Amino acid sequence: MANDPSYECRGLRADVGSRRGPRRLVLDDVSFEIAKGEFVSIMGRSGVGKTTLLRTLAGLHEASAGSVVRFDGQPVSGPPDGVSLVFQDYTSSLLPWRTVAKNVELPLEGRLPTEERRSRVAEALKMVGLADRSDAQPHELSGGMQQRVQIARALASQPAALLMDEPFGALDALTKADLEDQLLEIFAATGTTVVFVTHDIEEAVYLSDRVLVLDGTPAQIVAEIPVASPRPRTQMLTRESSEFLEARHRVHEVIFGT
Ligand SMILES: Nc1ncnc2c1ncn2[C@@H]1O[C@H](COP(=O)(O)OP(=O)(O)OP(=O)(O)O)[C@@H](O)[C@H]1O
Ligand SMILES: [Mg+2]
Repeated sequence: MANDPSYECRGLRADVGSRRGPRRLVLDDVSFEIAKGEFVSIMGRSGVGKTTLLRTLAGLHEASAGSVVRFDGQPVSGPPDGVSLVFQDYTSSLLPWRTVAKNVELPLEGRLPTEERRSRVAEALKMVGLADRSDAQPHELSGGMQQRVQIARALASQPAALLMDEPFGALDALTKADLEDQLLEIFAATGTTVVFVTHDIEEAVYLSDRVLVLDGTPAQIVAEIPVASPRPRTQMLTRESSEFLEARHRVHEVIFGT
């Protein structure tokens, strides 16, 4: 059905800590839905639980008993098919001894025939503008290029949902703007659902259909701000539009107070 959510979380609780030591509740009663093909950003102060939430959606962190976490209608218990995660730290997420193409191919190995793998890799590298660097080693690439390789690796499995944890946080402003636009093009072309964690209010508003703000200890969603700016968006015109400024104002108000 067209209106089925991509993700559905109800009463999500998550705690962290070692199995032996005391555990600390990070998320309590977090509830939201994300529609298929929607772009949602998650914001909140450092340590509030954004990565914990994303890892829970990716099936890498187990929610507490009683939590409802569904992807595509199915309870999440382990990494669901159709979900790709892009980590914040690209320097430690690529295998240094593999070429760019071999890094992108990694999650497809053992899952698809060689021909199909090669064409998926070529297509994903083209989407991120790195078709001509497929034989390079990661250390031969700039930080922005390495992050694009990581994004290509996530795209190669043609995910129904792309989870991104501060993917552009470590990049300079120009590279960041380029990658934001590339991501918007990919988002428009593939129709994938995106859940995007960022510390940057302008980035969240520029990219998203909705911004969710986490706050509190344990954290809950304290605000949900829709962004009415039409798509396609452009760095200059969108950022000057009244819809953008209004949403930015509201997010700012929630995060910093008036
Ligand atoms: N494996 C762990 N063991 C103990 N505490 C943890 C563990 N992972 C996270 N935490 C704690 O859980 C809380 C939430 O962490 P999380 O990484 O989700 O925050 P975040 O919102 O992503 O922060 P940042 O913006 O700095 O990335 C933090 O207080 C952190 O110290
Ligand atoms: Mg984090």
